[in-house]
Amino acid sequence: MPHRPQLALIGPMGAGKSSIGRALAGLLERPFIDLDRAIEAAAGAEIPLIFELEGEAGFRRREREALAAHLAGTGAVIACGGGVILDPDNRQLLRERAFVVHLVASVDEQLERLARDRSRPLLRTGDRRERLRELAREREPLYAGCADLSFHGRGGAPAVAARELAGRLVEISPDLVVRDDD
Ligand code: S3P
Repeated sequence: MPHRPQLALIGPMGAGKSSIGRALAGLLERPFIDLDRAIEAAAGAEIPLIFELEGEAGFRRREREALAAHLAGTGAVIACGGGVILDPDNRQLLRERAFVVHLVASVDEQLERLARDRSRPLLRTGDRRERLRELAREREPLYAGCADLSFHGRGGAPAVAARELAGRLVEISPDLVVRDDD
């Protein structure tokens, strides 16, 4: 993949970026990087604690650093946090360094997937549906503007969605699924 060496997954919380991304990386025989987990490892703290101690601004700074560090590599599948596209520099870097896939999910699908989740500070609110709608209104144009491909996994098993996505990628850009060292 000479021009855009990484494959990045963007999209809202609960769209399946981590689960589909991991399965996709397996199919493509590429390393998988979950940016949220990389941020936690670098900080030595989980995301809720980072938000508590440093606020969302502190988390976004760490997210910017982690994204730049991981986009500097080659050949990986990177699952990004839902808010990564808020920063214009992040969007530019993603477009320069990655083939960007927007994983689409409806608010109903997000609510179902995240029903038992307590690890997302932005969902610590009485009305999750309204919060997810607000975030979607603000962010959907940014996801769409940054993406090379939009893909809706339709709530199926991650392995099934990953296979379908891999098939779409082969059609669009065979380079993406051919390893540099093949
Ligand atoms: C966030 C999404 C989360 C995580 C953090 C903030 C967001 O990642 O980065 O809680 O702003 O949408 P996921 O999209 O993987 O849930």
